[in-house]
Amino acid sequence: MRANERTALVGEKCLLVPYLKRHVDHYNKWMQSPELLEMTASEPLTLTEEYEMQESWHLDEEKCTFIILAREPGQVVTAENILEQKMVGDVNLFFNDHDDPHSAEIEIMIAEPDYRRKGMGLEAIRMMINYARQSLGTNKITAKISTENKGSIQLFLTQLGFVQISYSQIFEEVTLEKVLSGKVNTSNTVGETPGQDMLQSHFETLELDLKDLDL
Ligand SMILES: CC(C)(COP(=O)(O)OP(=O)(O)OC[C@H]1O[C@@H](n2cnc3c(N)ncnc32)[C@H](O)[C@@H]1OP(=O)(O)O)[C@@H](O)C(=O)NCCC(=O)NCCS
Repeated sequence: MRANERTALVGEKCLLVPYLKRHVDHYNKWMQSPELLEMTASEPLTLTEEYEMQESWHLDEEKCTFIILAREPGQVVTAENILEQKMVGDVNLFFNDHDDPHSAEIEIMIAEPDYRRKGMGLEAIRMMINYARQSLGTNKITAKISTENKGSIQLFLTQLGFVQISYSQIFEEVTLEKVLSGKVNTSNTVGETPGQDMLQSHFETLELDLKDLDL
């Protein structure tokens, strides 16, 4: 979607930036990995198809995509240097429930193995949910996860307070859900309602200069 085409979110461990043409080659290399294809239930694409996908995701109002970059501890991040940081994954929202435009399905991938288990996945999800709540009016998030993917299920259930609402034997996956409620306060946090504290996230928003963006 175009809503976040100039938006960057600056967290403590990671940074979320729009998916740009400069990211496509690296993204396509990640998505040749059988492990990542299986864990994200994706099909491999050619490089040309990946460029088409990047362009269509930018324009498709049912999809919101950010690339996850690593933030070095204590690093000063500005609109000028943010895009130089290391690319480690992506986080997406799909607004594909046509009966409920305020509901979105989330997907997350920390593709670089060396960057896993450092809290980046958790922080990226929290930032994305807070962004969606505040800027896109989202009030419900779902996640569909393969039953094999115990680490991810653990992350959503125990660290983010999602609850399981269904299990598909055919697809061997569970659907987890989190209803967002409570007021948004000024520190970029969804809070004030019991159970919402697991989503707390402190981040800054930067507006990027369109002339620097290969959209
Ligand atoms: C699942 C994934 C996003 C987790 O990201 P991450 O940055 O490595 O995870 P975090 O460091 O933020 O983990 C936070 C918590 O989640 C749980 N968790 C994450 N990965 C886990 C694993 N492999 N095994 C068990 N628990 C795990 C733990 O509770 C962890 O807290 P801890 O490290 O203090 O024990 C990442 O491993 C990944 O991209 N995997 C491949 C794609 C995928 O499975 N996507 C999910 C589909 S929606």
